[in-house]
Amino acid sequence: MIDNKTLIAYAQKAMSNAYAPYSKFKVGATVLTKSGKYYTGANTENSSFGATVCAERNAINNALSCGERDFVKIAIVSSSGDYTYPCGICRQTLIEFNPKMEVIVAKNQDDYKVYSLDELLPYYFSNKDIK
Ligand code: THU
Repeated sequence: MIDNKTLIAYAQKAMSNAYAPYSKFKVGATVLTKSGKYYTGANTENSSFGATVCAERNAINNALSCGERDFVKIAIVSSSGDYTYPCGICRQTLIEFNPKMEVIVAKNQDDYKVYSLDELLPYYFSNKDIK
């Protein structure tokens, strides 16, 4: 199984492909599936700002498009050099698949924090609420 350091390294590599001409804030993410596969994403901005997509959602949408549904971890890095936490929309997108997903927010390969997704999004809305 890929370790956290490697997931962070892949997120850093993905971050180099970020398309962020407006904010200049680059983000990279790697999602790890239960079977040990990984998928990356970078943020993609648009001149119509609302069309911007975060790195986390590009990573998970990449995986979903390949048929993956079981996710165990996501690693996130940004060009700020600080810990970058997933935005609200990304938390909601991720929690659809695994509330206990590990969220790794990393400054670099040696300096990172790990959370459970439901710690970052308590009292979340889910399919259980749709009756
Ligand atoms: N961004 C992400 O990619 N992930 C986050 O969790 C926070 C924000 C991106 C969106 C936009 O391209 C830039 O960072 C500034 O908001």
